[in-house]
Amino acid sequence: MKMIKQHLFTPGPTHIPPQVFAAMAQPTLHHRTEAFERIFDSAIKSYSALVGGEHETIFLASSGSGAMEAALVNAIKPGEKIIYINAGKFGERWGDICQALSIEAIQIFAEAGQSPELSIIAEVVKNNLDARAFCVQYTESSTALLHPVPEISRLVHELAPEMLIMVDAISALATLDIPLAKLPIDILIGASQKALMLPPGLSMLSISARAWKVIESIPRRSLYFDLPLERKVHKKSTSAWTPAMNIILGLDCSLKMLQEEGLTQTFKRHAIAAEVARAGLTSLNLKLLSEHYPAPGVTAAILPSSIDAEKVRDKLVAHFAIQIAGGQDELKGKIIRIGHMGYMTAFDVITALSALEIVLKGFGHQFVTGSSLIAAQQVLERHGGIV
Ligand SMILES: Cc1ncc(COP(=O)(O)O)c(C=O)c1O
Repeated sequence: MKMIKQHLFTPGPTHIPPQVFAAMAQPTLHHRTEAFERIFDSAIKSYSALVGGEHETIFLASSGSGAMEAALVNAIKPGEKIIYINAGKFGERWGDICQALSIEAIQIFAEAGQSPELSIIAEVVKNNLDARAFCVQYTESSTALLHPVPEISRLVHELAPEMLIMVDAISALATLDIPLAKLPIDILIGASQKALMLPPGLSMLSISARAWKVIESIPRRSLYFDLPLERKVHKKSTSAWTPAMNIILGLDCSLKMLQEEGLTQTFKRHAIAAEVARAGLTSLNLKLLSEHYPAPGVTAAILPSSIDAEKVRDKLVAHFAIQIAGGQDELKGKIIRIGHMGYMTAFDVITALSALEIVLKGFGHQFVTGSSLIAAQQVLERHGGIV
C-alpha cells in the first residue's frame, strides 16, 4: 500500500472534519422518535440561523438538483414561464428541469466565465413580465463564477415585483455572506456536500412567505417533492419521508463548528483561500476563467491549448493523490478547477499549487519554479500572515 494522504480539491464533495465524521458515526436512531426529532429541530434552527431571513427551511433527502427540481415543480405550473441565467452547467440545469416539467424557460445565456450584463437581464425581464420566476446560481461552480446576485435580485424585483426569485446557493453557502434578510430572494437552495462539510444526500430549501403562498395555491405535481406536505410535517420536527438522518447529525455538528469559528471568519477564510488560488494560478502564467466575478469557493484556470487539463488532473491524482476538478462539456480538457470550500484553508491551497507546479513543469509549461508559492505567501502576508 502506498502511504499517501488523499486531498480533495473539488467544488463538492469536500473534506469532512473528524468531529463531523464522529457525529455521523453515532448509531442510527429511528426517525419517528423524540430523540431524533430534537436533532432535526436543532439542525433546522441552526441552518435557518446560518441563512438568516424569515424564510422557512425544508430539508430533503436528495442531492442539490433535487431541491432545484422541488422548487420548480412546487411553484410553477406546466405551461407557465420562468427566466433563468445559463452561465454554465448548473445554470443550464434550470432549463433541463423545466423541460422535464413542461415549464417554458427563457434563457439568458452568458459565455463561460461571464455573468450577463444587468442591462440584458433588465431587457429580458421587461419582455417577459408574465414569467413566474427568475432563477440563478449564486455561484456557478462549473466556471467558478460569482453572479452579482444582490444586484440581479434587486433589479428583477424592481422590474417584476410578482416574479419569484429562486437562487441556487449550493456552492456559495457558508463561503460568503448572503444577506438573505435584505434581498428579495424567495427560494434559497443549499446542499450538504459543499462548504457545509458533509457527505452528499441532504438538500435544503429556504422559502419566503410569498413563495409559500404561491406553492400552497397550485395543484401538487410531485409525490416525493411535495413541499406543502413537508411544511406540515416539518412543523412536527420531522420530514414526510425517511430523512437523511446521519447527515443531519453531521449538519448539527458542522453548523456548530461554523458558529464557533464565527461566520465573519468563515467568509474571510474562504476569501483568503480564493485570493491565494488566484494569485498562485496567475503567477504560473495561467489565465483565470472567471476574472471579473470570481467565486470564493472554487477557482478555475484556463490551460494552454497544448496541455490537456484531464492529463494534468490524472497526474495530480497518480503522483500526489490530489483530486482537482476539470471542465465539463466544451470546457473538458481546457480548464482546471481548484475547490477551496469547506474544511480548507489557504495552506491547503498552497499544497495544490505546489503539486500543480511540478505537474505543469512535466508538461513543459513555462514559469519560474516556486512562483505560485511566493505569490501565495505574499497574499498571506497582506492578510497579516494568518489563515
Ligand atoms: C451550483 C451548483 N448547483 C447545483 C449543483 C447540483 O447539485 P447536486 O450535484 O448535489 O445534485 C451543484 C453541484 O455541484 C452546484 O455546484
